[in-house]
Formats: sequence, C-alpha cells, structure tokens
Amino acid sequence: MVDDLFSSYLESPGVFRDKNVLTSNFIPKKITHREEQIKQLASVVAPALRGYRPNNVFVFGTVGTGKTITAHFVMKELLEAARKNKTAKIKTIYINCKMKKVADTEYRLFAQLLKEFGCNVPDTGLPTDVLYRKFFNIIDQEEQIIILVLDEIDALVNKVGDEFLYNLTRVNTDLKKAKLMIIGITNDLSFSDALDARVKSSLGEEEIIFPPYNAMQLRDILLERATMGFNDGVLEEAVINKCAAIAAQEHGDARRAIDLLRVAGEIAERNNETKITEKHVDMAEQVIDMDRVTEAVKSQPKQSQAVLYAIIKSVEEKDHSLLTGDVYDAYKEICDVNGLKVLTQRRVGDLIAELDMLGIIHTKVISHGRYGRSREISLAIGGNVLNNVKKILIDRFGE
Ligand SMILES: Nc1ncnc2c1ncn2[C@@H]1O[C@H](COP(=O)(O)OP(=O)(O)OP(=O)(O)O)[C@@H](O)[C@H]1O
Ligand SMILES: [Mg+2]
Repeated sequence: MVDDLFSSYLESPGVFRDKNVLTSNFIPKKITHREEQIKQLASVVAPALRGYRPNNVFVFGTVGTGKTITAHFVMKELLEAARKNKTAKIKTIYINCKMKKVADTEYRLFAQLLKEFGCNVPDTGLPTDVLYRKFFNIIDQEEQIIILVLDEIDALVNKVGDEFLYNLTRVNTDLKKAKLMIIGITNDLSFSDALDARVKSSLGEEEIIFPPYNAMQLRDILLERATMGFNDGVLEEAVINKCAAIAAQEHGDARRAIDLLRVAGEIAERNNETKITEKHVDMAEQVIDMDRVTEAVKSQPKQSQAVLYAIIKSVEEKDHSLLTGDVYDAYKEICDVNGLKVLTQRRVGDLIAELDMLGIIHTKVISHGRYGRSREISLAIGGNVLNNVKKILIDRFGE
C-alpha cells in the first residue's frame, strides 16, 4: 500500500534536475551583467593588496539587483589574489544586519565581530563600549586589513541609529597596525539622506550603484539557472521570457524572476505535468503574490491596516475614482468602531504612500492647478489575493 502511495512520484523523473539551483541561497559561479559593478568594487578594494586601507564604499540598488552576490564574489577573488601573491594579510567579514539574533543590535554586531576573531562574549550584559574596545584591541594586534561588509545596513541603522557607524569609520585614526574598511550595502535608496553628515561622507567615500535588471538581462540570468535546474525538454523558452518580463516590469528583481521560475516548476510537478508552460507562470505569480501580500498586510501596524481596509471598502462602494478624502471618511468610521485614535489626513496620506510602496495599492498624484493636488487611489491586488487580505482585515476590524 505504502509502496503505491509514492510510486508515481518516484517513477516520474520530475521537472527538476537540481532544485537547489533555483533557490535564492544558491550562489552561481558566474554573475551575468554585473561586469561594471564587479570592476568598480574590485578597483575600490584593490589597494588592500598593497597594504593600503581601501576607501569605504557605499553600495546601493533596489532589491534583487545582485548586490550581495557581487560583494561575496569580489571578496572571494580578493582573498584568492592575496593568497596567490602573498600580499599583506587581508581578512574579510560579511555580516547581514537583518539577521535576527546575529547583528540586529549594536551589542550583537560587536559580539559577532569579536566572534570572527575567536573571542566569545556573553550574549548580553557588557557595556557596548567595552565590546568596542575589545574589538579595537583584538584587531590591532597585528598588521592586517579588515574589510567589513555590512549588508542590509539600513536595518541596523533604522533600529539603533548611526553612531556605531561613526565609531567604526573613525577607528582608523587610532589603530596602529590594523586598517579597517567598510562596505555598506542597502536597498533603501533614500537611506543615506537620513545619515549624519559625517557618517555619510566617511562611509560614502565611494559609491556604487546597482541598477534594476531589464528583461533581456533577467532572461540571461534565468537561462543559466534553468539549464542547471531543470531536466532537458521540460521548459518552453516562452516560460523564461515570461518570468523575465514580469520581474522586469516590477523592480528588475532577479530574485523575483528566479522564484517565479521555481514555483512554476513546483506547480507543474505537483500536478504531475511533465512540461512547464506559461500557464504555470501565471499560477506561480498568484501563489507568490498571495504569500507576499498576506505577509505584508499582517505585519503592518494597526493604523496602516485600518487605512487599507478603508481603501478596500471605499473601492467597493464608489463607482468613481477614489481620492484621499473618500478614504479618510471611511477610515474615520473604522477608527470609531474599533476605538482607534484618528490620525490627521496628512498622516493618513503618508500611510497611503507606504501602502503604495508595498505594492498593495496604486496611487497617482493629480494636480488641480492652483487648487492643489490630490491622490487618486486604486487597488494593485485582486482576485484571491484581495479576498484573502479582506478576510484578514475583517477578522481585525469587523465587517
Ligand atoms: N547577475 C546575476 N547573475 C546570476 N544570478 C543573479 C544575478 N543577480 C542576482 N542574482 C540572483 O538573484 C538573487 C538576488 O541577488 P542578490 O541577493 O545578490 O540581490 P541583492 O541586490 O543583494 O538584493 P537585496 O537588496 O534584496 O538584498 C540571488 O539568488 C542571486 O543569486
Ligand atoms: Mg542582498
């Protein structure tokens, strides 16, 4: 009986040759269409090979534009070059500041850094400046160049401020033997605006920008993965083109393109189909959106959820296009019923703009000449995704 239960699964070759290749953890050997950025970053860090401190560099670009893999790649090549040419000692440290429990507070960041040098400190308890001094002493024990990659640096700065960065960039003035360089990576394009001017200028000694990928570039990236990831003959070329086109229309996000391709394959496999078609890509888009939007809505603060609910209700009630004022009335009502504080119309306008950023709604600013401007609002989600979101909001605020 049990044999039968899995026999069809085991007998069919499935669509995947190696599914791992189609996950975002997989590190490809070749990075396509980032020659320019690789060259730029390499030229910034190259002085380390001669024992000089490279300039700090600030790397930014929207999600899935290859910042993280490029940084990893250049670090790997740099260490390789240092080893081959027996240059000064170079140590690279990669830290993702979004990682919970690893570097999501200043204390944890320094504890993590110390760990890199074999020094364990308790999880909490010591004053941060003790950790800072320990770090300073430990790195200055020998002549070395330390390259610290702080990925998703905005996450940490938004949480704890930018003073730790100030301290880190200033450390070189007191170091005698070691030199420290920082590579800060973010996908928040306005991040540096919020930094203290001193931090901004020392971290941004150099800047490298990662533009979104276009459909052609995404296609090349996908082709590379597909050849390794899928069995022969499973995939129509139209499928790759479609995944690339969808991702290019959004943010030029390679992660999104790869996810679409993988999920399309999973759906085909689950339905016991041997070929992946464009239909599966449509279904994949739905599945992914469902997860992404549901997660985003659930994690919003209550006020934003109330605003979103007001928008959804207003869309259903009005037959003309929706303006901020229409939403505000509905919003006030929801606040009344739920005992929520009513925010000003201006603040609600900000929350509307944030929902737009999350891709849940669309807004368009309309100018009324000298009568000012207003925002025209529509929903960016529909079908099952919308129904699901509505369910979440009704649970929260009632019908
Ligand atoms: N040029 C490329 N060639 C091959 N794969 C790529 C390329 N660019 C991105 N990828 C793949 O796309 C995914 C996202 O890339 P990466 O993590 O480097 O993006 P990112 O810019 O760091 O995004 P985020 O801002 O979200 O951290 C990864 O799985 C990566 O392997
Ligand atoms: Mg990244």
